Amino acid sequence: MTEPVRVALPKGRLGEKVLGLFTEAGFPCPEALADTRKLIFENPDKNVCFFWVKPSDVAIYVERGAADIGVAGKDILLEYEPDVFELLDLGTGVCRLAVAGPKEFRDSPERTLRVATKFSHVATEYYRRLGRDIDIIHLNGSIELAPLLGLSDVIVDIVETGKTLKENGLEVFETIVPVSARLIANPSAYQFKQTPITEITNALKEIVS
Ligand code: PRP
Repeated sequence: MTEPVRVALPKGRLGEKVLGLFTEAGFPCPEALADTRKLIFENPDKNVCFFWVKPSDVAIYVERGAADIGVAGKDILLEYEPDVFELLDLGTGVCRLAVAGPKEFRDSPERTLRVATKFSHVATEYYRRLGRDIDIIHLNGSIELAPLLGLSDVIVDIVETGKTLKENGLEVFETIVPVSARLIANPSAYQFKQTPITEITNALKEIVS
């Protein structure tokens, strides 16, 4: 028996949707959805091994070869620019990276704009292209709080339904880039396990297209 294909899945809501796609594509793993704290699951019939990873860590596992393939949001790929192949847009986890702030905020080009975000690289590049001076305030979560408490002028964050912004009196000023979940592969794994990885990719492609 050849080595299984190791798949890093993003733990949480997106991961459950993605596991649904793998199931439809013929690579099920019901055990992974059971109420358990286990992190590694095998499907010996399909010679695939799944593991749950924090969504922002999937690309690290794949880039370093601890996983052969994985599913990561385009937001994470743009932020960390990992050395991985992007094989397929899975069309799920659809949202956008956007600039948002308090409705009443008026920008003034003479002042440095204070930007709170988890996506420091994306935000820096976005404002560099606009030629705008900014001060990045890197946060790890609940980004919407920053402008409400005067920590920043605006935020660069994920907007999915827009509910979080709305409930906190914030609005989108600009969309930076659309985001969705991508199937990614480690470049050498893609070479050495090309047949099974291509089989998985094609099966997923069939159901998402
Ligand atoms: C993300 C994002 C927004 C929210 C957007 O947060 O950072 O806060 O989802 O979703 P919505 O437009 O549907 O309201 P997440 O749940 O990942 O938590 P975090 O803020 O702690 O990062």
